[in-house]
Amino acid sequence: MSVQNLPTVALVVMAGVSALSELKAQSGRAEEAAYDIGRADVERGRAVVVGAYAVPPGPDAGLRSPAISPQAGACFQCHGMDGKGDKAAMFPRLTDQTYKYLYDSLRDYASGVRQNAVMAPIAKALNDQQMRDVSAYYAAQKAADYPPADPVDPQILQHGAALAAVGNATRGVQGCINCHGPDGVGLPPTYPYLAGQYARYLETQMQAWKSGQRKGDGFGVMEHIAKRLTDDDIHAVSQYYAAIRPRVVTPEKSEHQALTAPLPPTPSPNSVR
Ligand code: HEC
Ligand code: HEC
Repeated sequence: MSVQNLPTVALVVMAGVSALSELKAQSGRAEEAAYDIGRADVERGRAVVVGAYAVPPGPDAGLRSPAISPQAGACFQCHGMDGKGDKAAMFPRLTDQTYKYLYDSLRDYASGVRQNAVMAPIAKALNDQQMRDVSAYYAAQKAADYPPADPVDPQILQHGAALAAVGNATRGVQGCINCHGPDGVGLPPTYPYLAGQYARYLETQMQAWKSGQRKGDGFGVMEHIAKRLTDDDIHAVSQYYAAIRPRVVTPEKSEHQALTAPLPPTPSPNSVR
């Protein structure tokens, strides 16, 4: 079976979708109002991305202060201006990820419910407004190319595709598509896309839930799922999602529409340091 056919497999079986809206309603965090994207600003987010620590005085200086601590590190050094990340270094792709998910992740790193030695000090150095702004920035990035997918054993891909589509009823695991959308394109605002994310990164996250290192999704759905999957399952579904590519931006992504105004040219890393 070719990789191109696999998403079709995933689409054929839509079992459990009726339960989806209920689950979606449950798993949002309590203070939905706090996610009002109107309070985020892509241009201020760009300043966070390039590590512009010196904040010039201006009408919105209050929003930007305190100035970003040098501890924050400039996001672009690892995630790129376009959010492409780095497959080899396991820096995840942030391009066009949902605003709410990015913002939640930064808060989870800062509070420690999501443990990571690299991202914890970086997130702690950001104030709430900076987290919002930088999340809006990466959510507004729509284009970053994908590195070529690694060659993967077709049987592993097939195993991964089956898990994605229907899960594993015997072990009480539902299909990933119920929440992450057909072909892993994500279901904003809560459910991040998985398609095209780097395989080793995905695998590490699933293992982090399995071992209890990563918490923070309101109802613990991912922990529940990861603990019921074998290491082979986790490997296969990670390889599968890394191999497929989102086809379209889903209509639900309308939360991003306000942010898609053309941005000024991106400074090259050399010009901003
Ligand atoms: C030194 C490299 C480095 C820098 C600088 C960096 N990151 Fe990260 N980032 C990482 C790594 C590594 C991970 C994966 C951590 C994990 O396994 O949870 C990550 C994960 C993330 C995630 C979670 C993505 C997901 O799909 O769940 C977000 C959001 C994020 N970073 C945002 C930022 C922002 C915003 C900045 C700048 C303020 C930044 N990062 C700076 C290395 C970096
Ligand atoms: C009931 C809904 C639900 C189902 C089903 C589900 N997920 Fe998730 N998933 C979530 C939520 C919610 C998050 C965001 C968690 C957070 O905010 O920390 C998430 C996040 C993830 C992430 C983290 C992405 C990143 O960028 O770090 C991975 C990987 C993931 N899921 C894989 C899977 C796989 C593989 C399956 C199927 C075996 C699956 N999920 C099924 C709800 C679900």
